[in-house]
Amino acid sequence: MRKKLLVGNWKMNKTIKECESFMQDGQKIFAYALTHNLDLGLAPTYLCLSTLKNNAPKEMLVFAQNVHYETNGAYTGEVSCEMLKEIYLSGSIIGHSERRTYDNETSLKCNLKIKSLLNNDLIPLYCVGETEKEFDEGLTYKVIEKQIKEGLQELNDDKVKKIIIAYEPIWSIGTGKNASTEIAENVCKFIRDKVREIYPLAAEEIRILYGGSVKPNNIKSYLLQKDIDGALVGGASLKTDSFSQMVHALID
Ligand code: PGA
Repeated sequence: MRKKLLVGNWKMNKTIKECESFMQDGQKIFAYALTHNLDLGLAPTYLCLSTLKNNAPKEMLVFAQNVHYETNGAYTGEVSCEMLKEIYLSGSIIGHSERRTYDNETSLKCNLKIKSLLNNDLIPLYCVGETEKEFDEGLTYKVIEKQIKEGLQELNDDKVKKIIIAYEPIWSIGTGKNASTEIAENVCKFIRDKVREIYPLAAEEIRILYGGSVKPNNIKSYLLQKDIDGALVGGASLKTDSFSQMVHALID
């Protein structure tokens, strides 16, 4: 049985002070979620990682938003998995569409990062998704298949089980145009089927999230789908009010 998971991706939002007050205000709702069989995760900026980790319940997953695949060296502005491990992080988001678009993060580069995270016992939260143009042209499945095959190449079943995949159609991110539950479920099922073709023993265990304009009023409908194990949420994860409404929508 895959445990449901709600992850907030804060992107380039919140100062350390704002992060502190979110964590203070959120203590009750975090405890409520974690004692009601709902996993929680947050991915703040690098500057807030230690603050968040120090103020989070120990069961909460704490993710970076990106990581480098090398151990150390001349990579100005980068941080390695070993460094994340040292501050007891859970893992890192990899391949978010904003990084694919602005920072040339390809699926093959994501694959190197996923391998490095797994070698350090950290969880990769690997994002895939198609553009609006690709969606309109009926290319969704082709695009996703390539992202899955390249991103997950040369691993093994045991490692792949630990990965979390997020399906985030780019046209739905931050736009208010969330994908229908039917589209989201169909693509998440397709992802699970593709994983099964390559890593048969991992397919039933791997958690697959939907992301893209998830809000308190629509989150439940996604999590009721058979192949959707949680949500990756941007905008609605920034305020404790809406974060808490999402937790209640999933539990109550
Ligand atoms: P959104 O962002 O919930 O604001 O659409 C989702 C994401 O980019 O992970």
